[in-house]
Amino acid sequence: MSAATIHTGYKTLNTGASIPSIGLGTWKAPDDECYNSVLTALRNGYRHIDTAKIYNNEVAVGKGINDFLKESGIPREELFITTKLWGTDCKDPLNALKESLLKLNLDYVDLYLIHWPVAIPNDKGDLMPSNEFGHRLVLPFNEWNYLNTFREMQKLPETGLTKAIGISNFNKSKIEKILNDNECKIKPACNQIELHPYLAQSDLINYCNKNNIIVECYSPLGSTGAPVLNDELLLKLSKKYNVSPACISISWAVGRDTIPLPKSVNPKRIEDNLKIVDLSDDDIKLITENANEKLTRIVNPDWTVDINIFEESDVY
Ligand code: A2P
Repeated sequence: MSAATIHTGYKTLNTGASIPSIGLGTWKAPDDECYNSVLTALRNGYRHIDTAKIYNNEVAVGKGINDFLKESGIPREELFITTKLWGTDCKDPLNALKESLLKLNLDYVDLYLIHWPVAIPNDKGDLMPSNEFGHRLVLPFNEWNYLNTFREMQKLPETGLTKAIGISNFNKSKIEKILNDNECKIKPACNQIELHPYLAQSDLINYCNKNNIIVECYSPLGSTGAPVLNDELLLKLSKKYNVSPACISISWAVGRDTIPLPKSVNPKRIEDNLKIVDLSDDDIKLITENANEKLTRIVNPDWTVDINIFEESDVY
């Protein structure tokens, strides 16, 4: 029998709101499967669901949430729901949020994130316009950029349509630009980034912690096929703690005070992914050191030829 137990802890955002320490990720969960995974997760004790416009599953996520609220009688306020602004909507986040809420069939979300620090040309409904080389187009920085977008995002909490705003895929220098922007009146509540046992991002986590910005981990198992789960160290620790390698990954994320968002459409795994063990500080450190050696970033869209948005030295 596994030694892991269900984790129902919370952390506190800089808005004062509580956020459940583990959430269900839904990226790459197709519509039909997504409905079942959301319903299964909520029935098993999850209170935190993460989606995005670009995942194209907001309708299914919303149906799962609303069906669960109806059958359980649990009030909406007990759930924490996040969705994200896609770059083509950078100039009008209010309208984009309203469209997402319509799909989700919800009155509000708890957190609304700028999905990527890029502004994308809004070209006849194409969400990922690209040039002749297949590089994804972004608007010139001086025409519109993430600072302009964040200034627009700041107007949203007062509408009541989202309780908090935040960012995703932002590195230190970009966060710094937001925090130093004269027009920045609200701090981002959260930065959602790729984090797993092959990508530790300790500097960025420390920077966010120092600035009271919660860090959420997407792809905490290494995304499709969960490649990090075959790692030798994780296998060794899974024997030591008598839990699965997935549990070690998720426990490591929680142990580092970050919020993992494991995605699964498999009912047994969904149930398992909410269970963690208390890893020793030494073992957390071992996994972090191992991650720094492996250093593998899985999600890195080719936005344009000369922009690698994860480079701290990048001027964009
Ligand atoms: P599935 O949806 O079939 O369960 P990430 O959260 O890093 O994006 O990882 C998602 C990938 O990991 C998916 O391929 C998912 O497949 C798989 N996965 C999710 N939970 C587990 C688990 N507990 N053990 C093994 N694989 C898992």
